[in-house]
Amino acid sequence: MLQVDRLVKRFGTVGAVNDVSFEVPEGSFFTLLGPSGCGKTTILRCIAGLERPEGGRIAIAGEEVFSPSRFVPPERRPIAMVFQSYAIWPHMTVFENAAFPLRYGRNRCHPKELRRRVESMLERVGLAEMSHRWATQLSGGQQQRLALARALLCEPKLLLLDEPLSNLDAKLRASLRNELKTFQRAFGVTAIYVTHDQSEALALSDHIAVLDRGRIQQIGTPRELYRHPANAFVAHFIGDATLIPGELQSDGKGIMTPLGRFETLGPTQAHAGSVLVCFRPESVRVSTQPPTQDIALPNTFSGIARSVDFLGDHLEVAVEAQSWRLKAHVPNSLPIQEGQELTLMVPQEGVIVVPSETDYSEEATPSQRVLNSR
Ligand SMILES: Nc1ncnc2c1ncn2[C@@H]1O[C@H](COP(=O)(O)OP(=O)(O)OP(=O)(O)O)[C@@H](O)[C@H]1O
Ligand SMILES: [Mg+2]
Repeated sequence: MLQVDRLVKRFGTVGAVNDVSFEVPEGSFFTLLGPSGCGKTTILRCIAGLERPEGGRIAIAGEEVFSPSRFVPPERRPIAMVFQSYAIWPHMTVFENAAFPLRYGRNRCHPKELRRRVESMLERVGLAEMSHRWATQLSGGQQQRLALARALLCEPKLLLLDEPLSNLDAKLRASLRNELKTFQRAFGVTAIYVTHDQSEALALSDHIAVLDRGRIQQIGTPRELYRHPANAFVAHFIGDATLIPGELQSDGKGIMTPLGRFETLGPTQAHAGSVLVCFRPESVRVSTQPPTQDIALPNTFSGIARSVDFLGDHLEVAVEAQSWRLKAHVPNSLPIQEGQELTLMVPQEGVIVVPSETDYSEEATPSQRVLNSR
């Protein structure tokens, strides 16, 4: 449904989008995830035709909408966009807001047909009862549903959503994100979603592209990104991760680190020499037994509990192991005191090996370049 190929967009000297390529199959939910300023909104605006890229190619439903020799204006692209602010018109009723694209847009239709379609859509998103209210008399969550209803009435091939939940409080966000997913499935629309919130991305997406500084770091399913991050940036951005530098040993299975030898089930062939050993808080097994000679075993080391937070169903323990800080999630029944010495073990299946460096050589700052050249 969407193909983005080698997209480049600069603002002056700022490379906002650098050589970004991805494809989105029909009916799926695709998320652009990354920190503030990494280029998410710019990519969405390029797809919508609100920005003119410097290079690359964009095709929607097989039709090229942008290439160096072609630019289809936004109003002729089969898309609808929902913004963070919803862009709901306060001087119009709920009905009139929703009806707007059918009165003025690409999908203009007969007044009778318009009434039928708007009423049916408001019914489906649970706003039928409120259709005569002013849009300002809706709650945040209702306004969001109205923005979605209006976008869906455009019958877009692509629904572009730019942080549509970020104005809402945490509880409402969680319930609306489920709703959003339900609507997307029910309408079978292809959605491109932008967020910097990793838990939102994990919960909603079929596929996620993780971006940093205008470049795609990795594309995968939520599970793939979490279990097999391609580099340290992705490991940190998706969930909590401890990363410890190590050297791959000649047996191809072990990695020697300052915390001892680690072994992994995962493939290490793709890597060589210096790597990072990565593990998640839920993979760390914690024993309150004082360390014995066990810590000479692979994947086992000792540490001191620096803080213990009760999070209801589990404890989050911040552990200091030599000079490394790491987090461990342990059962809430484990009696752990701050300052206590612990034995920690990460099973092989919880050990992920990632390359030790992300190559940003082109964009390295002057001081980094000096360092690199030494
Ligand atoms: N109109 C513009 N003129 C100049 N620079 C811009 C413009 N729009 C965006 N940029 C720059 O391009 C980069 C990417 O911006 P973009 O808005 O795409 O980031 P984002 O990932 O959506 O961030 P956020 O999560 O904060 O919304 C930033 O460095 C930003 O300052
Ligand atoms: Mg943005």
